[in-house]
Amino acid sequence: MRTIYWDGCIKMIDQTKLPDEFTILEINDVDDLIFAIQRLSIRGAPALEAAGGYGVVLACYERDFDNSERFKEYVKNRAEKIERARPTAVNLSVGVKRVLKKVLESRSIETAREVALREAERIAEEDIIRNKLMGSFGAKLIEDGDGILTICNTGSLATVEWGTALGVIRSANLEGKRVRVFACETRPLNQGSRLTTWELMNDGIDVTLITDSMAGIVMQKGMIDKVIVGADRIVRDGVFNKIGTYALAVLAKEHGIPFFVAAPLTTFDWEKEMKDVVIEERSPEELKFCHIKCKNCRIAPDDVKVYNPAFDATPLKYVTALITEKGVIFPPYDREVPKILRT
Ligand code: MRU
Repeated sequence: MRTIYWDGCIKMIDQTKLPDEFTILEINDVDDLIFAIQRLSIRGAPALEAAGGYGVVLACYERDFDNSERFKEYVKNRAEKIERARPTAVNLSVGVKRVLKKVLESRSIETAREVALREAERIAEEDIIRNKLMGSFGAKLIEDGDGILTICNTGSLATVEWGTALGVIRSANLEGKRVRVFACETRPLNQGSRLTTWELMNDGIDVTLITDSMAGIVMQKGMIDKVIVGADRIVRDGVFNKIGTYALAVLAKEHGIPFFVAAPLTTFDWEKEMKDVVIEERSPEELKFCHIKCKNCRIAPDDVKVYNPAFDATPLKYVTALITEKGVIFPPYDREVPKILRT
C-alpha cells in the first residue's frame, strides 16, 4: 500500500478518514499540503519526509516565472513554509532541504522542475528500501510467539510503503514468526486504534487494541515480551516519539522488557540534544471531544485548561537498541551511533 506518490500532483491516502473510508487526496498546491500535514491526513516521520520532498516539487510548478533567480526565491520561501508545518519530526525538513538544494543548484527553471521531481521520487524509493532493510535487521530480535507492545502508527501509513516499527513486525511475520501485537490506542488522535489495528488486521497479524493506560497491566501480567516504537527525531540524549512513548519506556524498564526504537538514519539529528527540540502542542479541542471525527461528542467542559503535547522525549538510557537500515545499534550510543552515521 503506497501512502504518498506523485501523479501530476501529490496523491496521498487521507488518514483522517480511516478506518471508515479509504480515500485518495489530491494536493495541488503548497497551502493545501500544509493543511493536509497539520490535520494529519499525512503523518509519520518518514511519510512527512516524502511529503516535504514532493511539496517542493509543487512549489516549482505553482507560478510561472521568466527569471530563474525570482523562481528560486519563490520556491525557497514556499519550502521554508512547508518545513514549519510541524516542528518535531526532523524528516519533514530533511525531505524539503534535499529537494530544495537540487532546485537551487539548477541552471534553468525547466531543469529545476525536472531534478526536483527526480529527487523527490528518489526520497520515496529510498524510504521503501531502507524500511525493508530495517525490517530484516529488526526481525532477528523477534522470537516466534512474542507479545509486542507498540504505540501510534509506524506502518505503511507512516512511511511511503512498509513501515518502521510495524515494518519490523511485518518482516518477522513474513519470516513465519507468529507475533501477538498490542496496539495502544494513542490518544488523542487514535493513530493506534484507527490505523495500526487496521493495517495489521489487513495483513492477518494478530492484534489486540488497548487504551494507553492499559500498558502497565499487560506488562505486569506477562503478556509483553518486547516494546517496539518508531521515532520522530533521535538526538544525542533521547528519542522523540508520539506522546506516551516515554511512559512505555519507563514501564518496560521496571518490568525488564526490552524497549526497541526503529527509525531510518534520516530521523537522527545527532548534533542536537533533547532541550533543543520543539515539541508540537496541538489544539485543546483534540482532548475536549471524543474524536476528531465527532465534533459534537464533548467529553470535557468547554472552558477547561488543556495541555496537549503531541510528542515526548525518552532518554536513551531506556532504549535497549536502535534498529536502523544499516543494522541494530546497541549502547553505548555516543560511541556507536556516530560510527553508523559515518558509513
Ligand atoms: O503525530 P504523528 O501521527 O505524525 O506521530 C507519528 C509518530 O509519533 C510515529 O511514531 C513516528 O513518526 C514514527 S513513524 C514511522
